[in-house]
Amino acid sequence: MPERSTTGELDAAVLAEGVSRIFGPLRAVDRLSLVVPRGVIYGLLGPSSSGKTTFLRMVVGALKPSEGRLFVFDTPMPNRRVARRIGYMPQAPALYPDLTLRENLRFFGAVYQVSRRVLEQRIEELATDLDLLAWLDHPLYHFSGGMLQRASLAVALLHEPELLVLDEPTVGLDPLLRRTLWERFRALAARGTTLLISTHSMDEADRCDLLGFLRGGRLLASDTPAALRALTGQDSLEDAFLVLAGHPVLPVEPPR
Ligand SMILES: Nc1ncnc2c1ncn2[C@@H]1O[C@H](COP(=O)(O)OP(=O)(O)O)[C@@H](O)[C@H]1O
Ligand SMILES: [Mg+2]
Repeated sequence: MPERSTTGELDAAVLAEGVSRIFGPLRAVDRLSLVVPRGVIYGLLGPSSSGKTTFLRMVVGALKPSEGRLFVFDTPMPNRRVARRIGYMPQAPALYPDLTLRENLRFFGAVYQVSRRVLEQRIEELATDLDLLAWLDHPLYHFSGGMLQRASLAVALLHEPELLVLDEPTVGLDPLLRRTLWERFRALAARGTTLLISTHSMDEADRCDLLGFLRGGRLLASDTPAALRALTGQDSLEDAFLVLAGHPVLPVEPPR
């Protein structure tokens, strides 16, 4: 009998209760509690080394929490069955450079047990949508960074996951491509997919329905961008972050 969360009625995609991950002397994630309701875009915003990747890896079941309870779709993680309902785009693309894009997608389709017929159709659809159709039969070592990111996103979307976990998916992309991807994220959320996205870009944070501020492994706050602004009395999310991190925000002197 699996242990159930105490807040089942919330219909959470992700529920963390006091989750930590400890590496030797370091608490990379420190007693983190948050709820990601289904069908929203939840942004995890924090500077480098704040614990974003470590938390996401626990959510997808790649790492075990050292303490606390972590549920995805009401099931304690890690759990293999639930892992199949999750699409994960890691921070560094984990694809096979010597294989073509089509071969990579077929490989991961088999891992996720997508039926052969559905798989071939999904590959064509995703390659079209992500503007990679002309590259399907090229090995990935020919791909630019932006193309690899789109290829990695195609893999994460292949089995039509209910929860999409994206670790800094748009880092280094040109603004036009970044906008296209965000339109795609929004369309997925509108169809009921839950997205958990890490970022260190304030501009991206503003596109999220809910936002968690992470610093030193701790969650400083979790709310809508508007509520975080109201809470701190700051117009910019960057200043809101600073206030919540305990830094006074000084008025900017007008140029003389
Ligand atoms: N496998 C690991 N072993 C030891 N320390 C780790 C490991 N993974 C991450 N860390 C450390 O945990 C902290 C948080 O890292 P990470 O989760 O990657 O942060 P972020 O994604 O926000 O940059 C960092 O100090 C990092 O060096
Ligand atoms: Mg990271």
